[in-house]
Amino acid sequence: MGDIMMIDTHCHLDEYSLEELEKVITKMQDNIIIVSGTNDKTNLDVIKFVNKYKNVYGVIGIHPEYVNEVTEKSFEIIEKNINNPKIVGIGEVGLDYYWIKDNKKEQLEIFIKQIKLANKYNKTLVIHSREAISDTYNILKQYLKTKAVLHCYSSSLEMANKFIDLGIKLGIGGVVTFKNSKQIKEIVENIDLKHLLLETDSPYLTPEPNRGKKNEPYNSIYVASKIAEIKKISLDEVLEVTTTNAISQFDLML
Ligand code: NI
Repeated sequence: MGDIMMIDTHCHLDEYSLEELEKVITKMQDNIIIVSGTNDKTNLDVIKFVNKYKNVYGVIGIHPEYVNEVTEKSFEIIEKNINNPKIVGIGEVGLDYYWIKDNKKEQLEIFIKQIKLANKYNKTLVIHSREAISDTYNILKQYLKTKAVLHCYSSSLEMANKFIDLGIKLGIGGVVTFKNSKQIKEIVENIDLKHLLLETDSPYLTPEPNRGKKNEPYNSIYVASKIAEIKKISLDEVLEVTTTNAISQFDLML
């Protein structure tokens, strides 16, 4: 890899041991990591990480999987820390009808509440959507007034274009390197690079050729290489454009 900075726009650092954590962050020392919170505990961890590590930025929010645990305190944690200059967004938030189906109403309510928070503080919204793409789109279309990222995008090309029309950027992760990921390859091939971001979703979704091992932010390089291969452009161009995209979509002050 050359001198071009790489940005992993979405990962979770709270599942590494301290030793692993130091290692994966040091490996990214010339690059940037944006770490995502999911609940009260991991949001507090994100705040610790961004305060401790120079190359780590973060987003805090309530993931749909944790909607049933939300209290007043959850929003207090978010609002109290949202003006930390290294907290660059609200996330990850959204809808997940794959894991949990019996609380759609609560999921929708907490999602909308957090979109309004992002609007209020002019922060980037980081969105999780699983088996819920049309509800996600309809809500964003109605409420979103700020920049946003749809992380680990995994729906159709047609929907991708509709999200792009709302100014949303799409996070592309390790799935694009998998043999059977036809749909994501089609997205990467057909969507202009200026709408795409690199991400790993570490420690999950490890790209080839490291599949089977625990994922880490540096593996963004394999995602970038695959995008370069699909788009028939250089790796440098992929790094340059996706880094520019991430800096502008998260208003990163480097
Ligand atoms: Ni995530």
